[in-house]
Amino acid sequence: MKRTEIQRKFETLRLSVTSSCNFSCFYCAPKQTNQLKSLPSLTADEYCSLVKKIHDINNLTTVRITGGEPLLFQDIEKIIGSLKNMGIKKVSLTTNGSRLGVKAEKLKHAGLDEMNISLDAVENENFKNISGYNTISPVLEGIQKTIEAGIPVKLNCTILKGYNEDQILPVLDYAVKNNIVVRFLEFMKMGILYSRHTDYFYPEVEILRTIAEKYRFSPIERKISSTARYWRLENGLKFGIIANHSTPFCHDCNRLRMDSTGKIYGCLSNNQGFNIIDEIDIQSILNSALYQKQKINFTGSSLIMKSIGG
Ligand code: 5AD
Ligand code: SF4
Repeated sequence: MKRTEIQRKFETLRLSVTSSCNFSCFYCAPKQTNQLKSLPSLTADEYCSLVKKIHDINNLTTVRITGGEPLLFQDIEKIIGSLKNMGIKKVSLTTNGSRLGVKAEKLKHAGLDEMNISLDAVENENFKNISGYNTISPVLEGIQKTIEAGIPVKLNCTILKGYNEDQILPVLDYAVKNNIVVRFLEFMKMGILYSRHTDYFYPEVEILRTIAEKYRFSPIERKISSTARYWRLENGLKFGIIANHSTPFCHDCNRLRMDSTGKIYGCLSNNQGFNIIDEIDIQSILNSALYQKQKINFTGSSLIMKSIGG
């Protein structure tokens, strides 16, 4: 193996606990597609024992729980508690926010360190159009409940040309009002819109231009292996952009992914997973997964975000 690949190490695991989702975002899992049957899930104990196998030899610093929608998994608190008991420093979760009204307090008690909530629009019609969900109310309420529970929140807002570039400023206004960080995501070339990516792509430079219509901001130096680059607004609050295409971070990406069936993936741009259930030589599988990493550019894949975990 080449030195450069040995030197790179997985630090963060993104663990998908279900590929089911109660939303049907048109760019991820639109209602009319039938190729999106949910993958089977494992039990909380099974997920935790697989994570432990990886953690024992790789010393993960962060586990981010994803889906699908991870709050549809019944024993989610049990997973969070076990991960914290294993000594994982940061356990975070990415959610569409719809179930946070009932879950936020419980997640806090289970030991959750951080929450990423997706919010592609703050206006109801626009939100419904993108997410296929009937109302934004539970999401906005869920964000407030999470803040009240004392869990640090970041918002994720994926921007698609022709759909929600007009939501960039309203979402940023909402973040400023609530004093929370928002990261805008460039639409990644993945899943069902893989071959039509250019039709929807709204680049980082345009996102910044839109923000500059209302706000003044200055760049912050990027931390090693950070997915987002950040800017500081005049009031001191940060916002970020995750620009896989315009400003790829593949060269120092340290993320490993596990889907809800227990397969691991070294890179979003590679759709070959390695099954680690019943596998004894985890180290050699991790090495193979490291080889999947792209050196420079994000090339994308036909994998659906909902099944590999966003
Ligand atoms: N490009 C960018 N972001 C995406 N997400 C899902 N699919 C894509 C894509 N192709 C986002 C969701 C959510 C997070 C889990 O990933 O909007 O915020
Ligand atoms: Fe569900 Fe997230 Fe996919 Fe939307 S982007 S359908 S919330 S998994």
